[in-house]
Amino acid sequence: MKARGREPATHPDTTANAPRPDDPIPVLAAHEKNPTLELLLAHRSVRAYRDQPLPARALDLILAAAQRAPTSSNLQSYSIVVVDDRALLEKMCRLCGTQRFVAECSMLLVFCSDISHHIHICAQRDYAYRGDQVNTLLIAHGDANLACQNASLAAQSMGLGTCMLGNVRNDPLGVSDLLGLPRYVYAGTATRTNIATRISQPMTRNCAAPASMTGDANR
Ligand SMILES: Cc1cc2nc3c(=O)[nH]c(=O)nc-3n(C[C@H](O)[C@H](O)[C@H](O)COP(=O)(O)O)c2cc1C
Repeated sequence: MKARGREPATHPDTTANAPRPDDPIPVLAAHEKNPTLELLLAHRSVRAYRDQPLPARALDLILAAAQRAPTSSNLQSYSIVVVDDRALLEKMCRLCGTQRFVAECSMLLVFCSDISHHIHICAQRDYAYRGDQVNTLLIAHGDANLACQNASLAAQSMGLGTCMLGNVRNDPLGVSDLLGLPRYVYAGTATRTNIATRISQPMTRNCAAPASMTGDANR
């Protein structure tokens, strides 16, 4: 199990490459291939994996992609715990509704809502911490989910199979104890990943017709 730190919050000035107001609006021409859209439209969860460790490079890229996800106020209110130890995966499986594919994947990324570093920084600087509201939990959970989706897409783009694991919240205290999570850190979601051995049919979506509002707002 390895816990990864955060990227330093540096913001290089990228305005030099920013589009100008009179630039044409980029629209995909019908004949152009768009690998991002193809990946998104081909999505399906994968629950059968090859038992084989992933190359370290793949993990680095997946984590880098996760860390580039948008994050509320750039607070990065999450941590990622990489679980790749077979005995730990077996225990995680038991805590997460005994879904066998948790034990059978070679790597589980656990995305934790994490405000511990905010509290730590405030304490260091003698500031009062004012973030203990429901909204803080929503923000941290949202950040963690966005990072989880980025990680999943990055893995899928490398040809790996992934499946999210909301059942990581079945036994919050058990998971916290097993992973040694400190106070103010909560395992909110996870994604399993490895090379797929069986790929299911895409699930249908019963989407409502998209709502659209155009026209004269003054009417
Ligand atoms: C937040 C979240 C939690 C999920 N938790 C689980 C889970 O615990 N076990 C599981 O098998 N699938 C889980 N899934 C996957 C969904 O079941 C799956 O995305 C959905 O059935 C649609 O299928 P598709 O992803 O193949 O299109 C989860 C998905 C999300 C977004």
